[in-house]
Formats: sequence, C-alpha cells, structure tokens
Amino acid sequence: MNPGANPVPLVTIENPLPVSAEQARAWCAQLEAGDILYFPRTPIAISPDDLSFLLGQQQTDSSLHKNIAYKPNADKLSGVETRIANAAAVSRLHSIMRGYSQSVAKYLTEFLSPYRANWSLDYASFRPQEEQGRDLPLRRRNDLLHTDAFPTRPTHGARILRFFNNIHPSRTRDWVVGEPFAQVAPQFAPSQIAPRPDTAASRAAKSLGRAVGLGSAIPSLKRSPYDDFMMRFHNFLKENTRFQAECARYPEQFPPGSSWMVYTDTVPHAVLAGQYALEQTFLVSPQALVAPQHSPLKVLESIAGTALI
Ligand code: SIN
Ligand code: FE
Repeated sequence: MNPGANPVPLVTIENPLPVSAEQARAWCAQLEAGDILYFPRTPIAISPDDLSFLLGQQQTDSSLHKNIAYKPNADKLSGVETRIANAAAVSRLHSIMRGYSQSVAKYLTEFLSPYRANWSLDYASFRPQEEQGRDLPLRRRNDLLHTDAFPTRPTHGARILRFFNNIHPSRTRDWVVGEPFAQVAPQFAPSQIAPRPDTAASRAAKSLGRAVGLGSAIPSLKRSPYDDFMMRFHNFLKENTRFQAECARYPEQFPPGSSWMVYTDTVPHAVLAGQYALEQTFLVSPQALVAPQHSPLKVLESIAGTALI
C-alpha cells in the first residue's frame, strides 16, 4: 500500500440492481473487510414531498436527543421534541421513517442477499442537526473518531452495518475515517482495555446466549465479554487524546443525494459537518458473514486466545 493511501477504500456503485449471487457475495466480502460501499445516486426513493417535510424539521435543543430514532420492530418513533412538534407532524415523520426503513430493508435484502436469513433490522434514525460544533457529552460526540457499540443493545458478536442517506439539498456530509479495527485495536488497546475474558462471565454469557437462541441475530440485554470490550473500546477511542491527535485520518465527503454503507464496528469514523441524514442499522449475525476473519469478534478472540461470546 502507498504510504498515505486511504486504507478504507470507497467502492463506487453506479448500477445498484440487479445483482448476481456472486456479485452480492463480493459486496459482502468488501464490506466485511472494511470498505465503504458508496452510491453516488441513492438507490432509495424518497418522494419530493417527504424530502421537503424532512428538510423543514429543526430540533432546537441539540443536546436533548442525539437523533430521532425509529424502532422498526415496535413501529415506534422516539427522540422528537414534543414541545415543538404537533401531533400531525409527528405522525407524518413516523410514517416517513417507517417507509424509509422498509425501503432500505427491501433493497438490501436483494443487494446483500447472502445476509438475508441471518440479520436483523435495528433502529433507523433521522439526523436533522448541523453536526459541526454540536454540544454533546464526550462519549456521545460523533466528531471524534470511534468504532460503534451500543450501550443498551449488546450484539453478542453480530456486526453493526449502517446504511446512510445524505438528504441535504446542497451540502456534503463530511466524515473522516481511520484505519480498520484489525490495525487499530492491537496498536491502541492498552492492557487496561484489552479483552478480559473471565471464565465465569464467558460461561454465563454462553448459557444466556443459548437461552435466548443466539445464533439468530437477536441480541440479549446482558453484555458478553465481546460487548464489554467493544463498549470500552468506543469510550477509550473518544477519550484518548493521543489517539485522536496521532491516528491516521482520511476525509470522505458524501455529496447530497448519495448513500453509503459501512460496518461501523470496524471502521473508525467521525462526522465533522453536514446536516440532514437518514440512516438504517442492521445487525448481521456471525453465521451470515462471508469473511468472518475480519470481524472484530475474530480479531479480538485471536488476541485474547479464547472465546468472547
Ligand atoms: C456516527 O455513526 O458516528 C455518525 C455518522 C453520521 O451521523 O454521519
Ligand atoms: Fe458512530
């Protein structure tokens, strides 16, 4: 690799569908290795009326809720500032988010067909805030490079795949990305945050996993040693001024009307500027992966020398 070359390649997809089974498998492999799949023109149709409704939304208190979330499995919308929103607007937003979530799920079921039996639809979000200069507590800041982990939704080894739409009419969404997990974790994870497999905890996590039928992508509430590490690693990266100052940083600017998707548990990322994005998260279970050796679970298990879920 050239020194200074971006280790997180952007793979441009001009003609998204139809996709052969072989090509779908190749997209999955590229994503799993840490590439970003980028669609200059989004494959997700959003009607002009819905777009102008979304662009008319502005939450006044950016610290109150990070984003507006839609939970597809419960068909629930949360994070809307009820103080300023009227019932008709909330119901319209709810129906737009439901439609967005369904469209992305339908599209990716075909585009990433190898995953279809073994992934679950997680939350979708609407991000109407300007990202530049947002005033959030340190661990919730998204302008600091980090890999994703969810404090209240441990994945037990399922991977976090996110699909984004920049719906701003004229501005790019400005990200920086860092070197993938397999490079960063061994380099920056000092002993205090390295995996701490505790036999009793792993046994408990395993029996809990069996009890909730893990193997499907359904996460339980209790963190496995893997989830524990991923959460600590997320916090560690955001809190570590040396990492933030010294790590490799590669800018990516996503134009208006584009989409991109990436495994955000693997690719350190931060959003520096931009406003108005939609996003849908998927949890891809370990059995669905076409190149499991790249997964943070396998990388950590090989460092730890033991099972972590
Ligand atoms: C993030 O996942 O850290 C934020 C990405 C974004 O909102 O563009
Ligand atoms: Fe993130």
